[in-house]
Amino acid sequence: MIRPARSEDLALLVEIERAAGATFLQLDPDLFADHDPGTAADLRPYADGGRAFVSVDAHDRPVGYLILDVVDGAAHIEQVSVHPDHARNGLGRALIEHAATWASARGLRSLTLTTYVDVPWNGPYYERLGFRYVTEGEETPGLGAVRERERALGLEVWPRTSMRRSLA
Ligand SMILES: CC(C)(COP(=O)(O)OP(=O)(O)OC[C@H]1O[C@@H](n2cnc3c(N)ncnc32)[C@H](O)[C@@H]1OP(=O)(O)O)[C@@H](O)C(=O)NCCC(=O)NCCS
Repeated sequence: MIRPARSEDLALLVEIERAAGATFLQLDPDLFADHDPGTAADLRPYADGGRAFVSVDAHDRPVGYLILDVVDGAAHIEQVSVHPDHARNGLGRALIEHAATWASARGLRSLTLTTYVDVPWNGPYYERLGFRYVTEGEETPGLGAVRERERALGLEVWPRTSMRRSLA
């Protein structure tokens, strides 16, 4: 089940992010050894704004989450993470479909995200979910600013790109 994130979920979401981030260690232990999962305070504006959704287990405990911004008229998936203990059960896909429904209900014309091109559970996965790569020329100013922020945070350790899924 997917429901809006609540205040009391936020600390657990940071732990999900920490655990999900560790999956990158298998690709390059050195590069991702100091992955920063962020803080509950970082997530609060998303929860307060109704832009954070959690996938919960039978005990209503979050095992995955997705947070959204609105960037240049698109619902931008700022993060989607599923705890590795619950991965590959379709929870990521369900969270993304939930985001698509949320966006369509608000008249937003697409879903966007930024991701690693060559990581199997990033670019290729999103392609299977209907996202297409955005060329630099097609990048809207807001999306360009997201990319710039990510560069400043040192996230471009591998080829990284924007992707868009049309909701038309
Ligand atoms: C991306 C993520 C949210 C997907 O969540 P999920 O619930 O596992 O997703 P789904 O069950 O819908 O789909 C899983 C698909 O991802 C791909 N995938 C996931 N883990 C993989 C791995 N270790 N190796 C190869 N492919 C993998 C596969 O295509 C898989 O489908 P399959 O199980 O049928 O082969 C999750 O892998 C995750 O949290 N990753 C770490 C954080 C991350 O990369 N977030 C996105 C940042 S842009």
